[in-house]
Amino acid sequence: MAKHFLLLLFAVCVAAIDEEPFIGVNIGRDLSDMPHPTQVVALLKAQQIRHVRLYDADQAMLIALANTRIQVAVSVPNQEILAIGQSNTTAAKWVSHNVIAHYPATNITTICVGSEVLTTLPYAAKVLVSALKFLHSALVASNLDHQIKVSTPLSSSMILDSFPPSQAFFNRSLNPVLVPMLDFLQTTDSYLMLNIYPYYDYMQSNGVIPLDYALFKPLPPNKEAIDSNTLLHYSNVFDAVIDAAYFAMAFLNYTNIPVVVTETGWPSKGDSNEPDATVENANTYNSNLIKHVLNITGTPKHPGIGVSTFIYELYNEDAKAGPLSEKNWGLFDANGKPVYVLHLTESGGVLANDTTNQTYCVAKDGADPKMLQAGIDWACGPGKVDCSPLLQGQPCYEPDNVVAHANYAFDTYYHQMGKSTQSCDFNDMATISTTNPSHGSCVFPGSLGINGSFPNVTLSSLNSTNSVSSASNLHSGELGIRSLLMVIVLLLWGVVLL
Ligand SMILES: *[C@@H]1O[C@H](CO)[C@@H](O)[C@H](O)[C@H]1NC(C)=O
Ligand SMILES: *[C@@H]1O[C@H](CO)[C@@H](O)[C@H](O)[C@H]1NC(C)=O
Ligand SMILES: *[C@@H]1O[C@H](CO)[C@@H](O)[C@H](O)[C@H]1NC(C)=O
Ligand SMILES: *[C@@H]1O[C@H](CO)[C@@H](O)[C@H](O)[C@H]1NC(C)=O
Ligand SMILES: *[C@@H]1O[C@H](CO)[C@@H](O)[C@H](O)[C@H]1NC(C)=O
Ligand SMILES: *[C@@H]1O[C@H](CO)[C@@H](O)[C@H](O)[C@H]1NC(C)=O
Ligand SMILES: *[C@@H]1O[C@H](CO)[C@@H](O)[C@H](O)[C@H]1NC(C)=O
Ligand SMILES: *[C@@H]1O[C@H](CO)[C@@H](O)[C@H](O)[C@H]1NC(C)=O
Ligand SMILES: *[C@@H]1O[C@H](CO)[C@@H](O)[C@H](O)[C@H]1NC(C)=O
Ligand SMILES: *[C@@H]1O[C@H](CO)[C@@H](O)[C@H](O)[C@H]1NC(C)=O
Repeated sequence: MAKHFLLLLFAVCVAAIDEEPFIGVNIGRDLSDMPHPTQVVALLKAQQIRHVRLYDADQAMLIALANTRIQVAVSVPNQEILAIGQSNTTAAKWVSHNVIAHYPATNITTICVGSEVLTTLPYAAKVLVSALKFLHSALVASNLDHQIKVSTPLSSSMILDSFPPSQAFFNRSLNPVLVPMLDFLQTTDSYLMLNIYPYYDYMQSNGVIPLDYALFKPLPPNKEAIDSNTLLHYSNVFDAVIDAAYFAMAFLNYTNIPVVVTETGWPSKGDSNEPDATVENANTYNSNLIKHVLNITGTPKHPGIGVSTFIYELYNEDAKAGPLSEKNWGLFDANGKPVYVLHLTESGGVLANDTTNQTYCVAKDGADPKMLQAGIDWACGPGKVDCSPLLQGQPCYEPDNVVAHANYAFDTYYHQMGKSTQSCDFNDMATISTTNPSHGSCVFPGSLGINGSFPNVTLSSLNSTNSVSSASNLHSGELGIRSLLMVIVLLLWGVVLL
């Protein structure tokens, strides 16, 4: 009996972990000075980002992502879909070259087939479902279809009449593709991928959509949007669009396909005719989004059903064409310097602030460089500090001087030794400081990512190690079980945070 109970508890825990939605980040590479893949991965690690989506299957990126525990969504670029959708041999080769050659060292969990194909590449629409099926068959042949899902990111502009959500439907002229596509997603236990841009919805609404509603800011109850058919209350655009997608699928009789948001975000800078592309709005949007997703709030139609979401995007892509906002969706610049530091500090227990009273061990002002070098040598040798970040090409190499390197080595040793005062001595060359010496993607131990975009405390939440929740979760949406699962998830978080 007890054994069964334990097994059950274990199963419940596994289910709970499985349901934890994640926040991931898209990595576009349209930068005039694209960081080297190892630098990209160093930034991801420093920021505790555990889920990424690539717009292709760049070999160097896939190699750099190997053995990192980062889960990776790879993409078939739009221009390759025609060939893949017309030949299962081409599809099998693609999978072999871009997935099987890297798996399992690189934890590829998803193949995204194109990007907004149905709205941007009408000629490829005919073969889109074949492409999905051929790629999936190739995974089946390698027995990887349970680990790796196949889907295609859709533009939310395909959903017409999206408010009220209960009346939303997909552009009917696309049904000949959508129906077999939804059939495929359902039978393969995959998910609907949706790109959601409240920024554009807001911009194009001519004042109908209030800015606060787009930014997830609290609204007075009389300002909430109410769906008169369902009487559900909407307090943000993001949820309304996801529910519109659920309803549009239901309209075609598909009711158990989960949604994953493959792109969403807000630009931090724009042209003079884009006055709402500001650092403040971008920070508010992305901070609120992260809290919303990780809190497993769900949507009004499916409360408590997590919707994993990839933020658009990691870097500002300065080489992108178009308005200034196009170049400014990133969380970081090409040097890995955050464009803004997310406000993730006030969301209660789980994302609570733990940044008070942080201390660091750094070189004393005016310390003798030779003595500092001796200290570095000791810390990186007998002191067992991992000094690899100080090597050329690594995040803490620059500035290449003895003081900066001593700071890193001393601080790492100090934290390794549980911040005991005696461990910050180094022949009297070191001192304890409250100023975070982290810079760029060089994150110092103990810095809690203060200087990064993702404060460290979200780490356990962003650390969700699972892939996207499976289709069955939509059915298991009983509130009682969900609350129980949430309690367990919170307990697990608590344990991780302790
Ligand atoms: C392609 O499809 C044909 C016909 O269904 C099948 O015989 C063949 O094995 C498939 N090839 C690959 C590489 O999947
Ligand atoms: C529906 O899709 C068709 C075909 O892609 C397109 O021509 C049409 O403009 C779309 N309708 C709307 C209202 O977006
Ligand atoms: C959905 O199912 C209902 C009831 O079974 C049926 O009447 C309707 O035609 C179906 N709609 C579609 C689009 O298949
Ligand atoms: C988190 O979820 C709880 C219950 O689902 C809700 O009351 C609370 O407002 C949510 N917090 C945020 C920041 O969304
Ligand atoms: C969180 O940290 C910020 C700055 O690091 C500080 O201003 C704020 O008071 C802290 N909040 C709490 C609840 O400790
Ligand atoms: C931070 O330090 C002050 C003074 O040393 C102390 O009163 C306070 O309790 C500390 N706060 C935390 C969160 O440790
Ligand atoms: C923050 O991240 C650093 C580096 O990954 C880690 O050593 C440290 O334990 C983390 N702090 C907390 C409070 O999780
Ligand atoms: C990072 O920290 C350093 C030193 O504390 C500071 O000079 C720099 O402005 C910070 N960068 C950001 C983006 O906050
Ligand atoms: C992340 O999750 C894994 C597995 O749940 C756990 O072993 C690890 O300690 C976590 N890492 C952090 C830094 O929380
Ligand atoms: C990929 O990550 C998932 C979630 O952590 C894990 O279950 C799976 O074992 C990983 N796969 C590989 C090949 O590492």
